[in-house]
Amino acid sequence: MAYTPQLKELMKKVEASRASRVGVEYPRMSPEERRDVLRKFHPDYIEDGFRNINVGVDKGTRMPNEMADVFEAYSRLRDIDLDLKSDPDYDVDVLIIGGGGAGASAALIAQEAGADVLLTTKLRFGDANTMMAQGGIQAADKENDTPAIHYLDVLGGGRLENIPELARALVMDAPLVIKWLEELGTMFDKNEEGKMITIHGGGTSRKRMHAARDYTGAEIMRTLRDEVYNKGITVVEFSPAVEILLDKQGCAAGAVLYNLETEQYLIARAKTVIVATGGSGRLHYRGFPTSNHYGATADGLVIGYRAGAKTIYTDSIQYHPTGGAYPPQLLGLLVTEKTRGLGAQPLNINGEQFVYHLETRDVESSAIIRECEERGLGVPLPTGITAVWLDSPILELIHGEGTIERQLPAMMRQFHRFDVDIRKEPMLIYPTLHYQNGGLLIDDQARSSVENLYVAGEAAGGIHGTNRLMGNSLLDIIVFGRRAGKSAAEKSREISTPEGLNLNHVASYHQELEKADAGKGRVGPVMLPHYTHR
Ligand code: FUM
Repeated sequence: MAYTPQLKELMKKVEASRASRVGVEYPRMSPEERRDVLRKFHPDYIEDGFRNINVGVDKGTRMPNEMADVFEAYSRLRDIDLDLKSDPDYDVDVLIIGGGGAGASAALIAQEAGADVLLTTKLRFGDANTMMAQGGIQAADKENDTPAIHYLDVLGGGRLENIPELARALVMDAPLVIKWLEELGTMFDKNEEGKMITIHGGGTSRKRMHAARDYTGAEIMRTLRDEVYNKGITVVEFSPAVEILLDKQGCAAGAVLYNLETEQYLIARAKTVIVATGGSGRLHYRGFPTSNHYGATADGLVIGYRAGAKTIYTDSIQYHPTGGAYPPQLLGLLVTEKTRGLGAQPLNINGEQFVYHLETRDVESSAIIRECEERGLGVPLPTGITAVWLDSPILELIHGEGTIERQLPAMMRQFHRFDVDIRKEPMLIYPTLHYQNGGLLIDDQARSSVENLYVAGEAAGGIHGTNRLMGNSLLDIIVFGRRAGKSAAEKSREISTPEGLNLNHVASYHQELEKADAGKGRVGPVMLPHYTHR
């Protein structure tokens, strides 16, 4: 669906102002302006979207209503009689739940450390937000940069709310992670001399974004998945974990898996367990569309929480400033921040820039919402929503003809399918639900508050404070995936076969729900989003 004649008419204002915007930097906001725009327009500050959870270890904690709904829910196993005494279906040292970048990294490192590993995943191996990540991965590995400078950027972006030891681990491991990925075969962009090409993202003080064009996550996932298969690690697909199993001491000791094809429950016993199930964008907080993959429904958070794992920043959600807004088939899909990293500017209906193009995501998104909602300067779309322009054709003026095809080939193709040529026509964008800043609380060895339960990737919280910078998620999944794999494998050596596998914590959780009169009629984890009318 190409742009309508009305949109083409409005686009003329963008074209008219383009040449005058080349090389002109829009002023950045002051700290006070940032604070004000966040408080007024960021969805995290809109109180009716949140409530306090009534049950569990963090009873009283604020979270989006949709997340509280899946936390305050009954187990799928409520009326199921499982045999936990006979030999289990799987018996391993380390069980990894989740088949994205964090799970795959954990599997490789755990196996390298000598553990017998099982990786189980809800959909296909690689169906994860990792695969959909576009713009890049940060690492301070250039002469003008250091992990210390990276650390300051991470804390600045995270509103100084990051857990310092987690941010430290993130930046210190980053150069090693790039080297590891390269050695495994990830094809990062390089210049003619063979040096890594790096660019800025929102909130970075140095150019440290390493990319594989604009499909960086897919390239990293390709490499990791190949390596997992090459190493002969057992992978079970279409089998989400529906509960964590504890042993008689209350330590994590496996999980109950649900085979989506045969509809059977299977018991996986393990000496240690790693949750790497990713995010929750498919819960569509406040009705936002999402850039997340189909399976991002907070499963690991739900089962980890029921098993007693503490959480952090569950009320901090990231809205990516540039979600697709039109054509409607692209609603909510990611328009990579690399587009702005290269210099594309957000513009209102008059073709005027209204915010510096590389503010941090929380601020940039809030400014876009303000432009549309308060100032009434958004572009009205045939679908009934408003959006702003993102002037992609300016990139060909700034960097020369061919830039978009070279640097943003996936983006170009994505829009081209619907007859929009982003080399010539600006994109229409609006914030999309992208990332959960919080999650299950971990330490720098990826240990949760439950013994023998580890968490890595988007399911973990605290690394990024309450606002993550671009490129630090692809980084954190590998950093903490590797750390979780190592810690879990090492710990498994100290444990003999876990005894007394049980689901007593689930029964206690049900009692709490009943006492609080919460969760009636709800079952969690939901596993797949509900898009049909029920
Ligand atoms: O905009 C992007 O390419 C997204 C990257 C990220 O979330 O790190």
